[in-house]
Amino acid sequence: MLKTHTCGELRQEHIEQTVTLAGWVHRRRDHGGLIFIDVRDHFGLTQIVFNPATSPDAHKLAYDLRAEYVIRVTGNVAARPAGQENPNLATGDIEVYVTHAEILNEAKNPPFLISVEENVDEGLRLKYRYLDLRHERIQRNLTIRHRAIKFMRDYLDARGFIEIETPILIKSTPEGARDYVVPSRVHPGQFYALPQSPQQLKQLLMVAGFDRYYQIARCFRDEDLRADRQPEFTQLDLEMAFPEQDDILNLIEGCFTELVKTVTPHKRVLSPFPRLTYDQSIARFGTDKPDVRFGMELIDASDIAGKTNFQVFANVVKAGGQVKAIRVPGCANYTRKQIDELTEMARAKGAQGLATIALTAEGIKSPIAKFLNASEMNALTARLNAQSGDLLLFVADKSKVVADALGALRLHLGQRLNLAEKDLLAFAWVVDFPLFEWNAEAQRWDATHHLFTSPKPSDLPLLDTDPGRVHADCYDLVCNGYELASGSIRIHRRDIQEKILAILQYSREDAFARFGHMLTAFEYGAPPHGGIAPGIDRFVALLCDETSIRDVIAFPKTAAATDLMTDAPSEIAPEQLKELKLQITNDK
Ligand code: AMO
Ligand code: AMP
Repeated sequence: MLKTHTCGELRQEHIEQTVTLAGWVHRRRDHGGLIFIDVRDHFGLTQIVFNPATSPDAHKLAYDLRAEYVIRVTGNVAARPAGQENPNLATGDIEVYVTHAEILNEAKNPPFLISVEENVDEGLRLKYRYLDLRHERIQRNLTIRHRAIKFMRDYLDARGFIEIETPILIKSTPEGARDYVVPSRVHPGQFYALPQSPQQLKQLLMVAGFDRYYQIARCFRDEDLRADRQPEFTQLDLEMAFPEQDDILNLIEGCFTELVKTVTPHKRVLSPFPRLTYDQSIARFGTDKPDVRFGMELIDASDIAGKTNFQVFANVVKAGGQVKAIRVPGCANYTRKQIDELTEMARAKGAQGLATIALTAEGIKSPIAKFLNASEMNALTARLNAQSGDLLLFVADKSKVVADALGALRLHLGQRLNLAEKDLLAFAWVVDFPLFEWNAEAQRWDATHHLFTSPKPSDLPLLDTDPGRVHADCYDLVCNGYELASGSIRIHRRDIQEKILAILQYSREDAFARFGHMLTAFEYGAPPHGGIAPGIDRFVALLCDETSIRDVIAFPKTAAATDLMTDAPSEIAPEQLKELKLQITNDK
C-alpha cells in the first residue's frame, strides 16, 4: 500500500511512530509559520502539521495544496498540545508532523465544498455525485447499507435460505407501475420488460422445489417518483415453501430486530412488533402505514355527535358517515391563523371543515359550542379523554375522508409537537388487507397487493358474490409511517388464479398470454408458498435518519428519473435504432 495507516486510525498509542498517510486535502489552515491540514480518506480525518523550521521542503509544498488535492505524507505522530485535543474527532488526540510530502494528483476547485455540509443544490450534487459521495455522511450511509445487507445475507443463510439470481430481461411482472421495456434486436418489434419485482420467478422457484429463496434484488418501476421512490430500487426478496403467515412475520421480525441491534445499536426497536388489522389501522391512525411512535389516535364520536343539534354532525351520521376526532395535547391556545392552517390541511384531504374544541384555562372555546348542550359537550370531551390545555379536532364525513384528513393532521401535529422519539424504530405489522380495491375511474376491481396474493381460504365463497369483502392472506411491514415491506401467502392453484384474473377483467386469452407460464406451472405440483419483500432503500434510510432514499443509494436518479452524472436517458445513434427497427415519432 502507498500508506501505513488510514486517516481514521491513529491514536495515542501511535505517538512517536513514523507513519505514511494518503488521502485528500480536506481543510487547510495557515498559521503564519505552521500550516495545518486535515487529510481525509474513507476512514476519517487526521490533522497533519507542516513546520518550516524542521521540514522546509514539505512546508513549501504545503503552500500549493488546495482542497481535494490527493497527497501522501510521511511524518511523526505527536500528542497534540494540552488543550488542543479535539474530542469530536477519533484521531483528535494526535497530529502528524510531516517530514516528507508529495502530491499524487491535483484537483480543480470543486463545485461545492466537501468539508462543510452546506445546502448545495441537489442537481449539482447529483451531477458531481462522485464528489458528493465524498461527504462523510454519505460514506457512512453506504457503509451502513453494506452492513445491513450483509447482516440479512448471513441471517438468511443461517436459516437455510439460498440466494438465487433471477433475470433482468423478462416478461412483464406487474406490481402496479408501468414497465421499463427493452427492445429486442433479434426479434424486431418485440420487447423485454424489466422486472417490477422477481415475484413470478420466486414463486416458480418454489414450484421448482427450492424451499427457501432470497435475493438482494433490483426492481424497476416507471411510476411517479417521490422522496421514498426511485425508478430502480432494491428489495430483500424472499420466498418459502409450506409456510404459515407467522413463519414469515417471525423471520423478518427476528432479522430486523437483531439487525438494528448490530448495525445501528443507538436505535431502539419496539418488541414485539405490534400487529394491526388493516381495519384497525385505518380506524386508529387513518392510514394503512401508521406511524406508531406516538398516540394521538383517531377516536370515534359518531354516536355522541350524531345526536346533537349540530346539523353537520347529525346529517353525516344519518347518511352513514362518521364523526371522529384527535386530541392534540397542549394546543388549546392555538390562534385563529393556526386553526385556519389545520383546516386547510383537512380540506386538502377532502374534508368540508374542521370543528374544534379548545379546553383553555378560561374554559371551553369552540365554534360548535352553541350547538351542543352541556352534557353533550361533556360526553365529547370525556370520549376523547381531554385534559385542560388540549385542542380537539373533529372531522365529520364519509369514513375515507375522515381517515385521510385526521390521519394527515395527526402526522403533521405529531411532527410539529415532536411527539416521536428520534431514535425509535416503531415497526408494526398490518395484516388482513382487502384483496381488491374498487377503481372508480376504470369501474373495475384492482388487486390491493398484486394478483398472485391468496384470498383468505374462508373468504373463497365471497369471490363469486361479493369480491369487495374478500380479505387477503397478506401483510405489510411499516416503520415510522413508511411502508417497508409487503408480502403474502400466494395462490398455488390454477383454478383460483384464473378466477382472480377473471375478476380483474383479464380475458382468458389475455390471462394466458401474460401469465400462462404461472397457470401452467401451478398444474405441476405447486406447493403452498409465500414470502415478502422489504424495500432495502427505505429501511436503510430509516437506519440512517435520512428522509430521502437518494441519500442511501450510490448513484440515484432525480425525481424526473434522470441520471445527471452520465446524462441518461439519452438519444441513441440512428444505426442502433435501425438495427432495432425502431422509429422515433414526435407525436404527443
Ligand atoms: P411491493 O410492490 O409492495 O411488493 O414492494 C415491496 C417494497 O419495496 C419497496 N418499494 C420501493 N422502494 C423504492 N422505490 C420504489 N419505487 C419502490 N416500490 C416499492 C417498498 C415496498 O414495501 N413482489 C412484492 C412483494 C411480495 O409479495 O413478496 C412486491 O414487490 O419498501
Ligand atoms: P359552520 O356552522 O358551518 O360555520 O360550522 C361550524 C364549524 O364546524 C366550523 O369550524 C367548520 O369548520 C366546522 N365544520 C363544518 N363542516 C364540518 C365537517 N364536515 N366536519 C367537521 N367540522 C366541520
